[in-house]
Amino acid sequence: MSAIFKKANTAVITGGASGIGLALAQKCVGYGMKVLVADWDAAGLDAAKGSLGEAATTLRVDVSKTEDWATIKGAVVKDFGGQINLLALNAGVGARTAFDGPEADIANFRKVLDVNFFGVANGITSLLPLIKEKTTAAASSVESAIVITGSKQGITNPPGNPAYNASKAAVKSLAEQLSYDLRTWKGVGVHLLVPGWTWTGLAGAASGKAKPEAPWTPGQVADYLEAKMGEGKFWVLCPDNEVTEEVDRKRMLWSSQDAPTGRPPLSRWREEYKEEFARFMASDV
Ligand SMILES: NC(=O)c1ccc[n+]([C@@H]2O[C@H](COP(=O)([O-])OP(=O)(O)OC[C@H]3O[C@@H](n4cnc5c(N)ncnc54)[C@H](O)[C@@H]3O)[C@@H](O)[C@H]2O)c1
Repeated sequence: MSAIFKKANTAVITGGASGIGLALAQKCVGYGMKVLVADWDAAGLDAAKGSLGEAATTLRVDVSKTEDWATIKGAVVKDFGGQINLLALNAGVGARTAFDGPEADIANFRKVLDVNFFGVANGITSLLPLIKEKTTAAASSVESAIVITGSKQGITNPPGNPAYNASKAAVKSLAEQLSYDLRTWKGVGVHLLVPGWTWTGLAGAASGKAKPEAPWTPGQVADYLEAKMGEGKFWVLCPDNEVTEEVDRKRMLWSSQDAPTGRPPLSRWREEYKEEFARFMASDV
């Protein structure tokens, strides 16, 4: 059991008006926690407020804007007395930016990096001082947790979305650094949430189609996160109904070996490596 999810604790969740963030907010409310949902989508925030009830406060903010974090910080001080037990930096957007198509527009790159990367960097630089004020370096257990939502695309770098992949690779790097820099600050845990395919607006659900078999629900991701936080894991690599943990591990291992073996980048998707990659996936590694 994670020490974070308990009555009277508090949570700040960006991108909490829908999808994975909303499922996490629902989990927190279920435990009797107070939740601040920070999101840009006004209609989504209204709906979230309706479903989460009195325990939740909603704030319409743009996480990419540093000045909006002053608003979030003000609300944390006013509503929570400055206490944050769970900071989930989860807001994210996608945009197709492949260099072989017309979408490789600089505006798309900027938008994705602004939200996915600076939304996280803003959150840490604005709220970490508050979190450190309310926690102790020598704590015997974790008092607060910072959860940063990355993506497998930031690790394996599949073709099609260079801006999204770059933003999530940067977020992974930032989360790793944060974990290292807080290694002696025992009161704060850091976790990188790496969802598998999850049925949300960002990943198919906005189409209005029925959920296919393969993706997890946002609730499954929130449950998996809670379990891994309870185990004190930094890496929260979620499987889904199609991709197992073992398949993920092998895919990540293969990608990480492109550089040291001198293979061309993204070799996994190149015709000339198809058979070698298939053999690798079938092998015991
Ligand atoms: N769904 C998946 O398969 C999947 C896989 C890997 C990673 N992720 C990541 O999970 C996170 C949550 O996404 P989701 O899948 O729940 O999608 P979602 O679209 O349901 O949720 C994203 C939320 O972020 C909010 N948001 C976007 N821009 C914002 C901004 N500038 N300021 C404040 N809020 C903003 C949106 O309004 C939305 O409520 C994202 O970081 C996404 O990259 C999702």
